[in-house]
Order: sequence, then C-alpha cells, then structure tokens
Amino acid sequence: MVLLKSLLVLASACLPVVSSKYVFAHVVVGNTAAHTVDTWKTDISLAAAAGIDAFALNIAYPDTNIPTQVANAFTAAEAMFTNGTDFQLFFSFDYLGGGQPWAATGTESVASYMTKYKTSSAYFLYNGLPFVSTFEGTGNIQDWAQGGTIRSTIGDVYFVPDWTSLGTSGIGAVLPDIEGFFSWDMWPNGAADMSNTTDLAWKDAVSPKTYMMGVSPWFFHSTVGGQDWVWRGDDLWADRWEQVMDVEPDFVEIVTWNDFGEAHYIGPIHSEDEIAEGAADFVNGMPHDSFRDFLPYYISQFKGTNYTITEDLMQYWYRTAPTTGGSAGTVTGNIASQGQEVVSPDEVMQDKVFFSALLKESATVQVQIGTNAAVSYQGTKGVNHWSQPFDGQTGNVTFSVVRSGAVVKQGEGPEITATTQLASGLTNFNTWVGGC
Ligand SMILES: *[C@@H]1O[C@H](CO)[C@@H](O)[C@H](O)[C@H]1NC(C)=O
Ligand SMILES: *[C@@H]1O[C@H](CO)[C@@H](O)[C@H](O)[C@H]1NC(C)=O
Ligand SMILES: *[C@@H]1O[C@H](CO)[C@@H](O)[C@H](O)[C@H]1NC(C)=O
Ligand SMILES: *[C@@H]1O[C@H](CO)[C@@H](O)[C@H](O)[C@H]1NC(C)=O
Repeated sequence: MVLLKSLLVLASACLPVVSSKYVFAHVVVGNTAAHTVDTWKTDISLAAAAGIDAFALNIAYPDTNIPTQVANAFTAAEAMFTNGTDFQLFFSFDYLGGGQPWAATGTESVASYMTKYKTSSAYFLYNGLPFVSTFEGTGNIQDWAQGGTIRSTIGDVYFVPDWTSLGTSGIGAVLPDIEGFFSWDMWPNGAADMSNTTDLAWKDAVSPKTYMMGVSPWFFHSTVGGQDWVWRGDDLWADRWEQVMDVEPDFVEIVTWNDFGEAHYIGPIHSEDEIAEGAADFVNGMPHDSFRDFLPYYISQFKGTNYTITEDLMQYWYRTAPTTGGSAGTVTGNIASQGQEVVSPDEVMQDKVFFSALLKESATVQVQIGTNAAVSYQGTKGVNHWSQPFDGQTGNVTFSVVRSGAVVKQGEGPEITATTQLASGLTNFNTWVGGC
C-alpha cells in the first residue's frame, strides 16, 4: 500500500493538472448594506452546508458599500476557512450595475481589489491561479488581454468572464484573452421552457477553454422607476439541474444568492433594508431557502461524487394566486430592451404548483389543494419532478410521501387564493418556496 501510494504521488507529479468541478453562488454585494461580519458568516455556513464551493462577489462601480462589505466578507470567510469551513470567495466585476465600467488600475479598480485580496486564504484559486469573473464588460476586453494592463499589474489570473453579449460567433476572437467563459443565458424566452441548446453551443464555441453554466430558479424584475418584466421560472430549477448533468460544464454559477429585486434569490432574506426599492411587497413572506434543500444531491451528481439518500425530501414552490387574480401593473412577459418580443405575463407564467421529491426508494407523492381530492404521482428512487395546475382550486397545499400505505413525510404550504393577496391589487409574480 505504502509503495503504491508513493508511486501514485510520483506519477501524479508528471500528469497535467486535473481540473475538478465547482459550484458557485452569485452574491450581489450591493444588496448587503446591512450585513455585519456575522451576517456573512451565516450566509457562508448556509452556502457551505448546501455544498456550494464559493461566492462570486458581484461588485459594481461606483458603490460606496463595496469596500466595507468586501472587507466584511473576507473577514468572515478567512475566519471560517482557517477554522475548517471549505468555502471561498472570488470577484465578479460588474461593468454595468453601477453605471460605469471598472478601471483596470488605480485607487478603486480591478487591480486594487485583486492585489488586496488575491493572497487571502479565502480567495478561490483554480489551477493555482486567482479565479475572477465579470458581468459583461465587452468595452474593456483589452484590459484583460494576456500581457495587458490588468495581468501585467497583478500577475496571472484564471479569468472566466460573462461576455454573453458577444454571441457565440463573436467569442472566437477573444478566446486568447480568457481561461474560461460564463454564459448569462439561463432564462427562457416567452412562453417556453429553458433548454440546454445555448449552453451546448457556448461550450462548443469556447472549447478548449472551460465553460461555466448559469442556473437560476426564477425571474421577476420588480423595482421602481423602470419597466418590470418576468421570464418563465416554473419548472426551471428542476430542469436546469437536469440539464447540468447533460451539459457537463466545468463550473456552475447559481444566479443568485440575494437578488431580491429580480426574485432569483436562494439565500435568506436578512433585512428589508437589503431589498431593492419597490420589491419588498413582492419579496416579504416569500422565502426561497428550500431551493437549497436538494443542492447537496444535485452538486454531488454534477461532481460525480458519492451520495447516499438517507431521508426522503420534498421541495415545492408556487405563486399564491393565479396571474389573472390581480393587475399586472407595468409587468410584461419578456422585455423589449433585450431585443425580445413582449407578450402578456399570463402567457409566460403557468398557474401551477411545482414540486420535486428526492426519494430513498420508490413511493407515491400526493398533492392536495385545500379540501379538493389529493392527486397521486408515482416516484422512483432519486429525484422526481412534477407540476399540478391550480385549475381554480384554492386553499393550503399539502404534500405527502406515502410508502407501503404509510405517510413517511408531509408538509404544508400557504393558501392559494382566487385573487391576489397584495393590498396594492397587483399580481405577485414571485414564488413561495418550501420543503419537508
Ligand atoms: C471553530 O470550529 C469549531 C468546530 O466547529 C467551533 O466549535 C468553534 O466555535 C469555531 N471557532 C471559531 C472562532 O469560529
Ligand atoms: C440537452 O440537449 C440534448 C441535445 O439537444 C438533449 O438530447 C437533452 O435531452 C437535453 N437535456 C435536457 C435535460 O433537457
Ligand atoms: C458510496 O456510499 C455507499 C454507502 O455509504 C457505499 O456502500 C459505497 O461503497 C460508496 N461507493 C463509492 C464508489 O465510494
Ligand atoms: C394554512 O396555512 C397557514 C400558514 O401558511 C396557517 O396559518 C393556516 O392555519 C392554514 N390553514 C388551514 C385551514 O390549515
């Protein structure tokens, strides 16, 4: 055994670096104004418990919260990392969110943040290099070129930008500048489900560079002062994880941990002060934490690591009133500014209860809305996913796992009502999420 092990060590020293797979969650640092170091520790504990490897710290420019909250995040992560929590951080420079692109060098710049934090014990390295990403920035591609301003100032990096706006036909010209590529195309267009076609096209277009796939559960933009819109969430969370297994990207980035104003958060709602103006009415009472419940399983499937299902689990999500039970207000399905055909939000969002079961063995799953008859579904070992139309039914929703005639798991979700539950009379296109 000892001899074999030392031979393996010798052999591996001569092999090319073997890449392993990682899962990240996108944290909008601009939405963490009320965070303390302890709040960051809570977020890190929850993410690590879900099997997430690192936070992509989305930072926009200019934003006065960023220096303080980046420092708090690293203080929390360093303390936890040193104490054995296997979780790290890296930057995702947002070139649009703050209204100005990031400067390559200078007092508040890509180089200043990287220089300050890339040697932190909590900074995520890949193949020995500091990992770094972006949200767009196609006006600043030259800054990131090999031998360009950024790399010549801070040294080598493992650079995985989201430059999705270049399109698969435009990416070839910039491949020498990047180590990997991140596609932001993760929501469907109009009244359709998301497919994995664009991911497969991106993966192919950027090969042999690595590919980072985006996985998001939902999308409802609901902030004040602009056009609000929805893209279809519905089955998206279950569909995308199934697609991850087929696409086999190198990295997955969950979008997002805490973007409440676009309703795709999977982290906790810590404080109303961190919810974008205008969105609180649609976010309060709509926890999304149970979106994390199957992540340990999904992530181990993605990484090809062993996972034993020790407990039957369910996760379920639904809007608590039909789309036509309120006024859509300014909300459209799709958005013209993204070059899309605008449709009615009622066409895009389906009035259904969406639910998944992670089963130890085959079982019957039952869903009952109010006092209406329960509907049964036959599940098999592993992940199962279904949806059930409201069909005008109202009441609390009961979810049960039944095996050999006995109820082995049961949970209840809030009441579905015929009309919107918001005092404003507006339809809430956000979803409630629960699990048992
Ligand atoms: C370090 O981890 C141990 C074990 O989980 C825990 O008991 C202790 O409180 C932690 N210390 C700090 C400083 O977080
Ligand atoms: C991914 O794409 C392939 C090729 O189009 C298709 O066969 C497969 O069903 C897709 N996977 C999922 C989970 O949609
Ligand atoms: C996976 O885990 C199960 C249960 O702990 C164990 O019996 C099995 O040998 C493991 N398989 C691998 C490949 O490690
Ligand atoms: C419905 O669920 C709510 C909590 O969401 C609970 O307060 C209420 O008692 C439930 N109603 C019934 C009839 O079970």
